[in-house]
Amino acid sequence: MTTTASARLAQVLERTDRNLDASIDRLCAFLRIPSISTDPAYDAETRKAAEWASERLSELGFESRLVDTEGQPFVVAHHPGPGTGSTRPILYYGHYDVQPPDPLELWRSGPFEPVVEDGPTGRRVVARGACDDKGQVMTFIEAFRAWCEVHGGPPVPVTVMLEGEEESGSPSLDPFLAGHREALDARVCVVSDTGMWDVETPAITTMLRGLVYEEVQLRGPGHDLHSGMYGGTLANPLNALVECLGALHDADGRVAIPGFFDGIEDPPAEVAASWRELPFDERAFLDSAGATAEHGEPGRSMLERMWSRPTCDLNGIWGGYAGRGAKTVIPATAGAKLSCRLVAGQDPERIRGLLRSFIESRLPPGIVATFHSHGCNPAIAVAADSPEMRAAREGLAVAYGRPAAMIGTGGSIPAVGAIRRHLGIDSILAGFGLDDDRVHSPNEKFDVKCLHGGIRAHAAMLESFASTA
Ligand code: BES
Ligand code: MN
Ligand code: MN
Repeated sequence: MTTTASARLAQVLERTDRNLDASIDRLCAFLRIPSISTDPAYDAETRKAAEWASERLSELGFESRLVDTEGQPFVVAHHPGPGTGSTRPILYYGHYDVQPPDPLELWRSGPFEPVVEDGPTGRRVVARGACDDKGQVMTFIEAFRAWCEVHGGPPVPVTVMLEGEEESGSPSLDPFLAGHREALDARVCVVSDTGMWDVETPAITTMLRGLVYEEVQLRGPGHDLHSGMYGGTLANPLNALVECLGALHDADGRVAIPGFFDGIEDPPAEVAASWRELPFDERAFLDSAGATAEHGEPGRSMLERMWSRPTCDLNGIWGGYAGRGAKTVIPATAGAKLSCRLVAGQDPERIRGLLRSFIESRLPPGIVATFHSHGCNPAIAVAADSPEMRAAREGLAVAYGRPAAMIGTGGSIPAVGAIRRHLGIDSILAGFGLDDDRVHSPNEKFDVKCLHGGIRAHAAMLESFASTA
């Protein structure tokens, strides 16, 4: 960064510091909108969150609109930057939808009534979506705000695309991207929907796991039956379900679906070596989960298992009577939700087929399975060495005074693969969450330190992108 550039940036950073309390207020307003995309009862609220974000961008001078889909709308906004027209924009992606807040009784305050409270790193904002992903979306929107207030606009052309269905498997993303290639033309996509290394150390994520999410429903008798009158004469779908699901793992916790591990590629040697250098504290990680012991594939470190090995997990299971007291019943149906995290070399459609036939082949006579897919996307690695990636690393280092850790993640962001397929560009995953943020859990939070650091980092990355234009 040249001295003129750093003087220009210093003014912006100073503005982000002065704006911080207003930034927190704006985040809280965003968090008050219950944009739960998986539940159609919240469709109107979900749309309101899109409108709210679009208005924030419009008031900064972006040309911003909602683009309707069969599901939730996209927000698409554009700022020409300094207007010299010589460089392609930087695309920013995030999602304004959130996970359902259940179980509600475990929240200390309402999930959509954000509270700013004190925590170990200073203040923190508690609400559904505080970190995933409204707080992180606000890191770049507030960075644009500071640039706009001080210099009239960002130093490079910027396009923003916000999705409202990320938490429900991004069903509208492919058709949307296919239809908006020109409006979304960019040098690179910047995504803030992942984590930092720790509260002082920024991180860029270069590998994401893929996901196959399946819902299975088993049907047996035509209606619920007395378990004394009928027990022992016909198959119980709930018994059949737990037998199938119980066979998914061997005694060591290794996935036992035949063919599941075929073709898996290990991470490149230099990536594996750099991961081994990271000072990962397994104990602190378990503590952040409130867990007392680790469990998983033997002979591999936790980081390796989390970032480069596949999984199969039950997410929910139902059937029969689970209310108070006893009820002797053979349920007519039983069901479960399952997610497999995938790594390089695994084809999501093939894994989905293997999982379905694993279950079907184990059903006793008289039980029929139906399946419903809630997502199917491959693992992805992004280029770790491009001019934009170097610029992002420089910006993060300027903002935090130390280099970004280059990491993997166990989570999935379907948009990263879809953006590469449709727009032909890679993403830079610079996120500001922490392991203890309780994303997807009750009492989700985002530390003000992460919000503030994220805003500053985006402000600095913009300057670095401008000087690599
Ligand atoms: N932001 C997460 C993904 C994530 C979580 C990345 C933690 C890094 C660390 C994203 O919102 C998410 O939850 N994705 C879903 C994808 C699914 C619903 C298709 C996931 O990973 O379960
Ligand atoms: Mn997210
Ligand atoms: Mn999420």
